[in-house]
Amino acid sequence: MRSWLKEWASYTESDIGDGNGHAILITGYDHKNPDSTASKKALAIAHSAAENRLQKNNWPKLHFGENGTSAPNLKRHLKFVKKGKVPLTYWADDEYDEPIVLGSQSWEHGESGHSQTGINELDAIIGRGHGFTTVKPLKLIKKIIQLWCPPNGLVLDPYAGSGTTGHAVLELNTTTGATRRFILIEQGAPERGDKYARCLTQERLRRAITGDRPTVTGKLKKMAPPLLGGFQFRILTKKIDSKTVLTMRKDELIDLVITSHWENSRRGGCGLIRIEQEGYKYLVGRNEQGEGYFLIWNGGDKVGQLDQTSYATVVAEAKKSEMKPPYHVYARYEIYQTKNVVFYKIPDKILAHLGLNENSDSFNEVEE
Ligand SMILES: C[S@@+](CC[C@H](N)C(=O)[O-])C[C@H]1O[C@@H](n2cnc3c(N)ncnc32)[C@H](O)[C@@H]1O
Repeated sequence: MRSWLKEWASYTESDIGDGNGHAILITGYDHKNPDSTASKKALAIAHSAAENRLQKNNWPKLHFGENGTSAPNLKRHLKFVKKGKVPLTYWADDEYDEPIVLGSQSWEHGESGHSQTGINELDAIIGRGHGFTTVKPLKLIKKIIQLWCPPNGLVLDPYAGSGTTGHAVLELNTTTGATRRFILIEQGAPERGDKYARCLTQERLRRAITGDRPTVTGKLKKMAPPLLGGFQFRILTKKIDSKTVLTMRKDELIDLVITSHWENSRRGGCGLIRIEQEGYKYLVGRNEQGEGYFLIWNGGDKVGQLDQTSYATVVAEAKKSEMKPPYHVYARYEIYQTKNVVFYKIPDKILAHLGLNENSDSFNEVEE
């Protein structure tokens, strides 16, 4: 970085007493007297040298944008990015212990398309003036889907934008006979009165299926081959907060406990396995170590509390299914305490597991 900076102006290293080692300062600049004539002169010289360099266009590897005032950026030369063909299938259908590292590899534009291609594709189906600039080209997304998702898999895009991912799945299903499904999530921009999840994301998918395209006058006409498939559009209205969790039905709450539970002390395989058998009042799941998970529910529509009576049932059910302590118990309150129980307070613990509890940072939380 030092040598890149020196291509802009003259710098000197000195300790400015901030405890961070040497700072790289413009030569002649006195950080203790920034308004002195010497400091001002040094800045003026550096400014003019940098300005000259900026005008020359062939900037150093570290640069500060087109007008020289943006945050530092690194130039990345295309010739240094490894180019190559990427395998056509790479389905992660095995459990990998280690993340797969893919080196930097680029696709030729012919294979992946340009950003402008994505915008043109959206213009063609929605019409101009949508204002979206971050549209991905269908070709790129189709390639990624083919690489990572088996032909009958489920594609989740939680930042759907203009819906390229859904469109890509529909096209692949139609052209290759795959049967992938998709879930797209889009928040739109309601604060700007632009709920484009409905009028753009949804509308693009609808037109992809029907073949409707806008003519020059803006009227819709069936101009493209229709794609196979369908979808449902849903508006989420419920927020998951304490009240929602506490007013859930028992089966909903069991679902939530099973899917949200995780233990940060156990790496990998920390999900719960649901216990479907009849005949248990509280036992709902077990972990990979065979420890039982209990949800206290005393009939009616409310989650119950862990007291002596419910604990006795927990112990009996654990015995019946040959489970040893610790017993993991989800309940509203812990009236009865025992070292045999790991207690999870509802709703707090569930919200924390979902990362929704403002008072706890689930990633840093230590289970007791
Ligand atoms: C870069 S765009 C995605 C572009 C998309 N790949 C395409 O080709 O159109 C990111 C989108 O994510 C949405 N978004 C951001 N945060 C979100 C959130 N928390 N939930 C749902 N959508 C979100 C934004 O509204 C935006 O439309």
